Amino acid sequence: MFVDVRKKMTEAAQQLGFRVDLLALANDCDYDPDSFAPLFKAIREEIQKYDPDTKFGEYLDGHLQRVRSEMEEFMLYRGYSAKAARIIGDAFALHDLGKILQDPEIWKLSTAKPERSEYANTERPKHTELGSDALDQIMKKINFVPTPEQEKFLDIARFMILNHHERPDGKGPRGMIGSMICPILNMAIVVDTYDGKMKTGKDHNVIIAEMKGEKHTGRLDMLAVAYYESFKLATGRFFQPDPLALGKNS
Ligand SMILES: [Fe+2]
Ligand SMILES: [Fe+2]
Repeated sequence: MFVDVRKKMTEAAQQLGFRVDLLALANDCDYDPDSFAPLFKAIREEIQKYDPDTKFGEYLDGHLQRVRSEMEEFMLYRGYSAKAARIIGDAFALHDLGKILQDPEIWKLSTAKPERSEYANTERPKHTELGSDALDQIMKKINFVPTPEQEKFLDIARFMILNHHERPDGKGPRGMIGSMICPILNMAIVVDTYDGKMKTGKDHNVIIAEMKGEKHTGRLDMLAVAYYESFKLATGRFFQPDPLALGKNS
């Protein structure tokens, strides 16, 4: 009952253009990671076995695990509590889950031949809408019935799944604009974008320059980009490009 009311209020707030504050949702969540262990294990298994021919599933799992720890460390660097950082990081590890319900063909693209088909361009953005269904299907498969307290964490994950391609200029899939995107969601969008660019093997400085450049004007919150740049320099968390990532385009 209370879960439904909270969910409806969150949806209504967003439809009315109010900001949904991920920090407030995280602070209100009594999160026990151990209680989600069977679900997280099942989710990773489903992701890893998606499209074994191209290893896209393995790549996707690597991407999601990297951004999970990256988001947690970035939040700690920015002074958020360990609890909030853990919750948001773990929730963000689910953000691309909808991809496993899509036709693997749309993710096939060689870096040597970077044109995408009309079909891929139309289908790819739909993964934000499909993620919640993918989550429900996996929970059903393993008989994971969340408690009301666990639903709070799942609501945060669903929110990040649905909104991780929003843009400050309002041209994202759902049209959230400016301050409707809360600071933590802006941080997550920046982390996701940076990791997505690593697949090309580009240097950190090149990636940051691109994210600050014309191509990304309106796509990213520049304050979040600046904070992320200082986080990377302060912590020295630079990764080698994932060999599985080369040639992928997600
Ligand atoms: Fe995505
Ligand atoms: Fe992603």
